[in-house]
Amino acid sequence: MMKLNIVCIPGDGIGPEIVKQAKAVLDRVAAVYGHEIAYKDVLMGGASIDVHGIPLTDEAIADAKAADAVLMGSIGGDTSKSPWYQLPPEKRPEAGLLKIRKALNLFANLRPAILYQELADACPLRQSVRKDGFDMMIMRELTGGLYFGERRTVTEDGVRKAVDTLVYSEEEIRRIAIKGFDIARKRRKKVTSVDKANVLDSSRLWRSVVEEVAKEYPDVVLEHMLVDNCAMQLVKDPAQFDVILTENMFGDILSDEASMVTGSIGMLASASLNDTKFGLYEPSHGSAPDIAGCDIANPIATILSAAMMLRYSFDLDEEADAIERAVKAVLKENWRTADIMSEGCRQVGCSEMGRLITEHLEEKE
Ligand code: IPM
Ligand code: MG
Repeated sequence: MMKLNIVCIPGDGIGPEIVKQAKAVLDRVAAVYGHEIAYKDVLMGGASIDVHGIPLTDEAIADAKAADAVLMGSIGGDTSKSPWYQLPPEKRPEAGLLKIRKALNLFANLRPAILYQELADACPLRQSVRKDGFDMMIMRELTGGLYFGERRTVTEDGVRKAVDTLVYSEEEIRRIAIKGFDIARKRRKKVTSVDKANVLDSSRLWRSVVEEVAKEYPDVVLEHMLVDNCAMQLVKDPAQFDVILTENMFGDILSDEASMVTGSIGMLASASLNDTKFGLYEPSHGSAPDIAGCDIANPIATILSAAMMLRYSFDLDEEADAIERAVKAVLKENWRTADIMSEGCRQVGCSEMGRLITEHLEEKE
């Protein structure tokens, strides 16, 4: 019996409805396996701007720090229409996300990209390319690099000039590399470290630190790949990848590409971890403001993020497995939300998809 203290950040757009379904699944798991879960809802992003004028308050950070883990929906709105985007950059919804990552030291971002056999038709790659499917883990450094380096815009002699800086210390590289190799060890034991070492000093340091760390993991195969080549290889032969280890900006871009290659971004979870068991778990997709409140969003990525939370923050592998099995069972019965709908399947909304998954969690194996 475990007592879990979870902070929920429903956020904006479809966030509240998908988090609601993930909570229902967690409650069912708790009932079946005899755990107790206490939730506290916290505002972030546009939802916080509307109430407090800023995307993340110090109290919200303190609440998150005091919890065992954070389950998040999504934040942000329509950048061309929402008044949130009339605010200066540091007061917009996304600034809240960057702030919480830094404040909680969530340096390791895990983004699995899996081709579900049941959804193979949604994959935009030809059968000869996708072969028997693929299952990779993108490990993105999340609190360094261009995102957190000094930046400024100046005018010199009447000409505007903007500067962003890309800084990495060897400690920052080492700790994400260690996480990457640890995770590879639990998978297929291969790390592809992605950089731009043919141009950037930060990448040359990245490569040399990753090589040092690799010496401690003789059972894991390490290869280096340039980021432009990696972008190409992801659509040419995605099955070659096990763990992709990369810096913040490259990981942002490659993880979107990898999720598109699966064809079902509504299915992909993510975890952002620090060096303890604490983590923030959220779907890989965004807030989809155009369909917010319509009960048609896919809650599966959030439900699978809750499973990752049980696995990584609470070591509840059996419970996490049960959620993943329930999701697969529902897909096998051909239930689909609109985003993954295909011919011959039965379309359901967000709450019904959540209910079906919950229903499959009845029995304990
Ligand atoms: C992501 C998002 C964020 C990022 C944005 C919203 C700041 O794209 O989590 O990948 O770039 O990290
Ligand atoms: Mg992104």
